[in-house]
Amino acid sequence: MNRILNRIFAVSLAVFMASAVATAEIVKVDTKSSSMVLDATKGKKLKHLYYGANITDADASSLKSAGAANRDAYPDYGLITVPETALSAVHSDGNMTLDLRVDGVEHRKDGKGDLTVIRLKDAYYPFTVNVNYRTYPDADVMETWTDILHGEKGTVKLTRFASGYIPVRYGNVWLSNLYGAWGNETHVDAQPLAHGMKVIKNRDGVRNSHFAHSEVMFSLDGKPQENTGRTIGAALCYSGNYKLRIDTDASDYHHFFAGINEEDSPYNLKKGEVFTTPVLALSYSNDGLSGVSRNFHRWARNHRMAHGNELRKILLNSWEGVYFDINEAGMDKMMEDIASMGGELFVMDDGWFGVKYPRDNDKVGLGDWRVDKRKLPNGIDGLIKSARKHGVKFGIWIEPEMVNVKSELFEKHPEYVVKAANREPKYGRGGGQMVLDLGNPAVQDIVFTIVDTLMTKYPDIDYIKWDANMSQLNHGSQYLSADNQSHLFIDYHKGLAKNLDRIRAKYPDVTIQACAGGGGRANYGVLPWFDEFWVSDNTDALQRVYIQWGTSYFYPAVAMASHISATPNHQTHRVTPLKYRIDVAMSGRLGMEIQPQNMTEEEKALCRKAIEEYKSIRPVVQQGDIYRLLSPYDNQGAASLMYTSPEKDRAVFFWWKTEAFRNKQYPRVPMAGLDPDKTYRVTELNRIDNKPMKFEGKTFTGRFLMDNGLEMPVNHSVDNSQRNEWASRVLLLEAVK
Ligand code: GLA
Repeated sequence: MNRILNRIFAVSLAVFMASAVATAEIVKVDTKSSSMVLDATKGKKLKHLYYGANITDADASSLKSAGAANRDAYPDYGLITVPETALSAVHSDGNMTLDLRVDGVEHRKDGKGDLTVIRLKDAYYPFTVNVNYRTYPDADVMETWTDILHGEKGTVKLTRFASGYIPVRYGNVWLSNLYGAWGNETHVDAQPLAHGMKVIKNRDGVRNSHFAHSEVMFSLDGKPQENTGRTIGAALCYSGNYKLRIDTDASDYHHFFAGINEEDSPYNLKKGEVFTTPVLALSYSNDGLSGVSRNFHRWARNHRMAHGNELRKILLNSWEGVYFDINEAGMDKMMEDIASMGGELFVMDDGWFGVKYPRDNDKVGLGDWRVDKRKLPNGIDGLIKSARKHGVKFGIWIEPEMVNVKSELFEKHPEYVVKAANREPKYGRGGGQMVLDLGNPAVQDIVFTIVDTLMTKYPDIDYIKWDANMSQLNHGSQYLSADNQSHLFIDYHKGLAKNLDRIRAKYPDVTIQACAGGGGRANYGVLPWFDEFWVSDNTDALQRVYIQWGTSYFYPAVAMASHISATPNHQTHRVTPLKYRIDVAMSGRLGMEIQPQNMTEEEKALCRKAIEEYKSIRPVVQQGDIYRLLSPYDNQGAASLMYTSPEKDRAVFFWWKTEAFRNKQYPRVPMAGLDPDKTYRVTELNRIDNKPMKFEGKTFTGRFLMDNGLEMPVNHSVDNSQRNEWASRVLLLEAVK
């Protein structure tokens, strides 16, 4: 697929002297569909002229005459104190102003993509900022970030340090952002940008996507549409505290800033030290929200996540099936059950460890990653043996960044936890949980060793569920000096990244899931090292339609763990039929989170069939292009989306009823993303109806399907005793020759 994309995506990176203005150096950074144009005239402020649909070099050189933003591209604080800025600092002599000027432009390949570096130097102080832009031939996403350094005698205190700034032309611009809570992550909010400041931020310290996401979309043509309209997507790729600001002032622009949240985090930068801000990924599309999503998904799979181009195994995770009640026979039985349904991997969740403090509940044991032999007399080896016997792979849960006060690790090393001096600590989950201070290299070693020991002793471990169930809470590092206490949040995430680098260098192949009390780590800050994330602790199928909808704005299905669970659901207590639960889970990375022993043979057979069918559509769902069609947030009674293969020869259409009222009128859903000139045969997957739908096996042109869609029966034709208010459909579309 990469080779094909390479041919299609001719990415140009053009830098040229505009002949009309002899001294202006216009820098144009292109992806296939977008251009960023800057005026990088030496000795002047770097100016942002344009970000939007791809433009020619000739148009770029005439941009200013057409009216261009012409705003400082990386606004610095001090000489004009009024507007919002990207960067502010206190120099070693106390001066609070910056005056950054262009010093040079450089282009090179950096091993990942094509890099443009614009070097800015302060007019007086030895203070430098490199503004970086990276593009890829096969991705319609541009990355920008900065490196900040200085040569002053003392330290310079950085007090604001955004990754980037984009002026968005004032107009009927709508912002789509994602908000939520534990168990209700990633809901879509969309509203027109009003005057004043919109701030989206996180201060958790450890996780950052429960309550808000560091990704937003700007719809430039009014109310957001899925498949039409000029749209900018922006994702701050950071695992820690972030702040997005959109200031709509009296100028002609909405000013968008994204970066690390500077609150309570001024950073003392030593001479020669480089402060690198996280990547801000930008994408532009004329094809609406879904267009931007497809760009992000392709970029993510090719460049920003672990093993993005590989298919994920279908797994059973033990958590909702047995919670802390781990035992050898039970695990063996679960492995047998998932194997019998066609699954490929079993993951043993929390509860397997702790010797002095056995992990029987969430109050004790974190930190002591030794097998509880009472529960598992033959240890992990015994389980791996079982897995081999049943022909599935084995995975395991850990929460390596955390410790319980009741643990041998804490008893030995109380100095390793995040804790404020002279204060009683605030505890997290279970009333006794604390965060290990990852800014401390000794703690980094401990976290690395947890993974290293497991992987060395049990090289068969195929999958790690890496959890993080607590916020920082206490502002205090027992490692950092008194004057650097404000580094706590930032150094934690530097330490995390260092660790993950080390782990991935030694264990490049193991699949690692980012879980953080559910969906707390659905972010591009961690995805370079992780294969996927747990979308939410809420596995209720109806609520997942909404949660996964929002998640898909930026994240591909291959990253979205989506599990079939028991009914009534453990979080919402809602009763939904298995068919509905399967049909929702199949739109992401399919798995199960259930005790198979509580399932009937009939239910197991349905799952077996679904798993088999999922295997046949897995490449389309996990690697295909998403087209969201009917949003659950539009309250039309149903939701629908589809995935198409890059070649558009296969597609999978999902439709889920979200509301059931007698004689309610449901809209018919036109499809999208097909080849209008291809003819597709329609086959229903996971069929439970007594008779096939009327269009079963029939063929239609892509044009017809995209203009009209197919009429979805709003009820299943099943025996009376099987009837309920739910309905869902999964259709496979295959191009016929
Ligand atoms: C968190 C995770 C769950 C589960 C539990 C185990 O809540 O989100 O999936 O792993 O921890 O304690």
